[in-house]
Amino acid sequence: MIQTLTKTFCTGILLICLCSSVIAQTYARNGMVVSTSEIASDVGVEILEKGGNAIDAAVATAFALQVTHPSAGNIGGGGFMVFMGEDGEVTTIDFREKAPLAATPDMYLNENGEVKGNLNHLSALAIGVPGTVAGLYKAHLLYGNLEWRELVQPAVTLAQEGFEFNWTLYFSGEYFSQQNDFPFMKQYFLNTDSTLMEPGETWVQPELAKTLSEIRDNGKDGFYSGWVADEIVNFMEKEDGIITHEDLTKYEAIEREPVTGTYDEFTIYSMPPPSSGGVAIIEMMNLMELADLDNIEFNSSEYVHLLAEVMRRAYADRAQFLGDADFNPELPLDRLTSKEFARQRFNNIDLDQASVSDSSKFGQLYDGDNTTHLSVMDKDGNAVSLTYTLEYSYGSRMGSEALGFIFNNEMGDFNPQPGVTNSRGQIGTKPNLIAPEKRMLSSMSPTIVGRNGKPYLVIGSPGGRTIINTVFQTILAVLEYEMPVDEAIAAMKIHHQWLPDRILYERHLLSPDTRKTLESMGHILVPVNNLGVLMGIAVDHENDILVGASDTSSGEGAAVGY
Ligand code: DON
Repeated sequence: MIQTLTKTFCTGILLICLCSSVIAQTYARNGMVVSTSEIASDVGVEILEKGGNAIDAAVATAFALQVTHPSAGNIGGGGFMVFMGEDGEVTTIDFREKAPLAATPDMYLNENGEVKGNLNHLSALAIGVPGTVAGLYKAHLLYGNLEWRELVQPAVTLAQEGFEFNWTLYFSGEYFSQQNDFPFMKQYFLNTDSTLMEPGETWVQPELAKTLSEIRDNGKDGFYSGWVADEIVNFMEKEDGIITHEDLTKYEAIEREPVTGTYDEFTIYSMPPPSSGGVAIIEMMNLMELADLDNIEFNSSEYVHLLAEVMRRAYADRAQFLGDADFNPELPLDRLTSKEFARQRFNNIDLDQASVSDSSKFGQLYDGDNTTHLSVMDKDGNAVSLTYTLEYSYGSRMGSEALGFIFNNEMGDFNPQPGVTNSRGQIGTKPNLIAPEKRMLSSMSPTIVGRNGKPYLVIGSPGGRTIINTVFQTILAVLEYEMPVDEAIAAMKIHHQWLPDRILYERHLLSPDTRKTLESMGHILVPVNNLGVLMGIAVDHENDILVGASDTSSGEGAAVGY
């Protein structure tokens, strides 16, 4: 396998990307876990081998990722899970962070109505009430087989006994050792003798082990009440955060109906609001269904143009309409995901010319890869697609040394300035303004594609706003262009999000000739190193084989089967 190492520092977000054109497929009959950490995937497979189901394995893998992949694996953040049971029923669990009770729509603004510095991204005020422990606990109570403690213990052991420090962690440690703004992160990767951990050394996290043990012994209460909650609230008081005991005890994960769409004979199940991912993916798949794709070659200029036009429209709708449905009872979800709406939208796509995004409205530049996705299937045909995040890489970069984990900075996903929408990327629309206990709009898109009531593809990715598009393109490549899952993950991805009006494309994977043709159609193209870190499982029902692939832009990722 050829790997080239690239380090990118992007708008203060640390991105480490191991790029490669080769993705190994893994085959298995009994079960599979694909995640961004081979150690965490192994934990999940051990749970399957012990008789756990896909939910058990997903929960155990998610806890293990907190230990082995702390830039995004978390107990201090939140996320979403889509679950398809062996009976073909699909449900979702929303464990997205919430705004604290004391939050207000203008909490980040100065007297001129402008956002103060980076308050909504990098401060204790940027921390949303964490949802991960509640979400994993709810999934376990509703659908798991094994005992809770069996699911958390592998993470406790990894934190207590340690695991081999890898290069990805090393680069993060090196970065934070040179920063003075993040004291918690500065000590996070240090040995007991205060030197930076080296690759190959054993990384032990005793405080995290203590916190995880409390969760193992007391379930959800081990995080939202008791000494862990006391320490969270102490930390908030010390750092001028606003999360209180009441916020923690009131937090509930919510089981929601998935959003559902179809593409030919396939059914797509994905995450409803507060994620925008499911609605946007279904809208885009509906639009692509109307195109004459039999005569449009994959990655041709016609193909990329069409993708960009479809994305432009779906992201405009996302910005205009979407937010937490519990606070926006009138969200037009049925309309946005209907075939009729897609027909109206499709009719104004010019197949030869780029349309123009209205720059008096919204959009924001690409976010990064600092979330993480895992896909799981078990021997009975249960499937889990789970994406969770801290928002930035290492979230707020803040934490309590006594607890050993990092808090999210998810409040930055709200629209910070009511009414202020501009072409620089600020969105100020109402559905996603801050309100106490509201969940901020997300792009995370854990998705399961079914055929004949059985899972066909389990897929998801990190990447901020690019998530929706990379998941969409991977699904399209598998369903329409019949690519094996590894090829679909490796294939060139683009990202258009309405505004700014430009196509991001993966450097070296789009031919210069195609780029020039697209430019002559009126598109602006911007190269980026990588889009998406996809983790997928496809089911070969004819041969009864699971086929897994982990995107090699995750340096430590692995599909592990048994
Ligand atoms: O929920 C979301 O859409 C974002 N907070 C996800 C962030 C992400 O993928 C990492 N990028 N910065």
